[in-house]
This record gives sequence, structure tokens and C-alpha cells, in this order.
Amino acid sequence: MRKKIIAGNWKMNVKPSETAALVKAVAEATKQYGNVEIVCCTPAIDVPAAVAAAAGTQVGIGTENCHWKDSGAYTGEISTGMIVDSGAKYVIVGHSERRQYFGETDETVNLRARAAIAAGLTTMVCVGETLEEREAGKLVEVIERQMNVGLKDVTAADCAKLVIAYEPVWAIGTGKTATPDQAQEVHALIRATLAKLVGAETAETVRIQYGGSMKPGNAAELLAKKDIDGGLIGGAALKAADFAGIIAAAANA
Ligand code: PGA
Repeated sequence: MRKKIIAGNWKMNVKPSETAALVKAVAEATKQYGNVEIVCCTPAIDVPAAVAAAAGTQVGIGTENCHWKDSGAYTGEISTGMIVDSGAKYVIVGHSERRQYFGETDETVNLRARAAIAAGLTTMVCVGETLEEREAGKLVEVIERQMNVGLKDVTAADCAKLVIAYEPVWAIGTGKTATPDQAQEVHALIRATLAKLVGAETAETVRIQYGGSMKPGNAAELLAKKDIDGGLIGGAALKAADFAGIIAAAANA
């Protein structure tokens, strides 16, 4: 049994002074859902406030990116060691917005993912096709490339810290959700591709989140699918009640 994981991706939306209130509201609204792993991934500058507010609750804290080097002249970046030292336990790697706006490639996703896993962080590696790629019939090719290059040299043992997020780019922040069948089809492809990399038995243990306009109203039908093991939530993670609604759906799935 794969424990469902619902992670919020706050993106660039919440100030340090607003952080404690949101984390505490999430913790309060989701107390009864002990069978779901609950995470808030925040801007790095919010992490100290988020970790303090989450102390003693069921909510875990993560960041939205990390660098692969331990330290050095990398202005603006944060290392996995810094993340661990701050008390965060999760990180998102390779989000499509990083790929689209900040030059992230499958190769740098791989470097970041391996560094994060080596540091002991639960690492959510994002994959997903654009609408253009889907319409050109390149869905399988794109997902396989993102998986094969992004997870190169990730071992079966590393998979204990690996979560994969399927986020069709055309569904992110657009209100357009993949149908449960569309999502399941790609989740199954992701698991099959992972099985070729690390073995079928290990691939069965890895959680695959869906992301892209997930909300309380559509979470249950997505989470009912065999290979959908959670969600990576943008907009709906900014309101505790909406986020809790998705977590409730996961708890009952
Ligand atoms: P969304 O974002 O839920 O606002 O579509 C999801 C994500 O980008 O992780």
C-alpha cells in the first residue's frame, strides 16, 4: 500500500509574515487525516516560519527547488544541506515553471534530484507534457525522456525518497484538469518507465502524484485511480479549506 501524499506548492505567493497562519490553518483542518502524508512546499524564505508553525503537527515542510552543489558561488541558489539544516524534509525538483522560465533541463533535474535524495530529502520530481507536445503525438516520447534522463543513476534504494509528480503543463493553473482516465494512462506509463529503470517491484512502491488544477471537487475521482497516489497542488493549496478538502478526498480514497 502506497501512502497517499498531498503536497502544496505555494510558488511565489505567500510572504514570511503570512506563513505561520496558513501552515497552522492547514494543520488544524487536517488533524483527522493521519493516513495521508501532508506537505507544504514554500518559498525558501518562508521555511523557518513554516517549520516553526508545523512543529508538533502532521504537516511536513519542503522547498520548491534546490541546487546540486553543497556550497559555493551560485548566487541565488540554495543547497540541499541548507534545506536539511532549516528543518524542511521535502523538495520539489523540475517543476514545469522552472523548466519554462529558468532554464531547467532534464540534465539539471537529474543533478538536483540525485543531490536531494542523497541529502535524505523526500524528492518530488515533476514531469509532464505541454499541450503542443500532446497534440503532436509526442506524449510518450516526452515522458520517457524526462524520466530516463531526469532519473538517470537513481537506484532502487534511492526510490525510498522518490516521489514523481505528473503535471500536464496545459492543466497547471488553467482550471483544465486531465480527466481521471487521461491522468491514469500517463501514471501507468510513468510506473512502467520507472520499472525499466529500477525494477518492477521497486516501481510499485513509488508514489506518483497528479498535479494541475486539482481541487476538492475533482480530487476524489482522480485519487480513485490505481496509479494516482496523491497530488501536487498549486492554487488550491493557498486556502486551508480547499487544501483540506483535497486531503479529505485522499484520506477516503
Ligand atoms: P495548480 O498548480 O494546482 O495551480 O494547477 C499545480 C502545480 O503547478 O504544482
